[in-house]
Amino acid sequence: MNITHIEHLGIAVKNIEACLPYYEGILGLKCYNIEVVEDQKVKTAFFKVGQTKIELLEPTSEDSTIAKFIEKKGEGIHHIAFAVPCVQEALDEAASKGVQLIDKAPRGGAEGLNIAFLHPKSTCSVLTELCMEGKK
Ligand code: CO
Repeated sequence: MNITHIEHLGIAVKNIEACLPYYEGILGLKCYNIEVVEDQKVKTAFFKVGQTKIELLEPTSEDSTIAKFIEKKGEGIHHIAFAVPCVQEALDEAASKGVQLIDKAPRGGAEGLNIAFLHPKSTCSVLTELCMEGKK
C-alpha cells in the first residue's frame, strides 16, 4: 500500500474544550485547527506531533458514530490513520486481498483530505483509515 507514516490518531472525546488543558497545558502541543465535519457529525481538533497529528473527535449529534462509540466503549482511541499516496489505489489493493471496506471510494474528511475506512473485522479490530498524504 506504500504507507508513508501514521497521518493521525483519532481519539473520541465528549468535549474538546475540556481536553485542551491536557493537550496544550500539560503536553505542550498546540491546537492549530478546530473544524466541524458536518457529514460525520463531529467536531475535530488537531495537534501536530512531528509528522503525525492527534485528532480529537467530539460528537455534534446523538446519532453520530462517535457518540455511539463513546456510549459503547467510553472515550479513548477510536482509529488509526495511515498516509498513502493514493487512497483509491490502496482501497483497490486491500479489496483485492479480501479486506472488508467501509468506504469503497474515498470521501472528503477533515482538512480537505481524501479518506476511506477499512472495516475492523479485517484489521485486527482496529478501525483503520487510509488518508491522502497531507500538505500540512
Ligand atoms: Co481520522
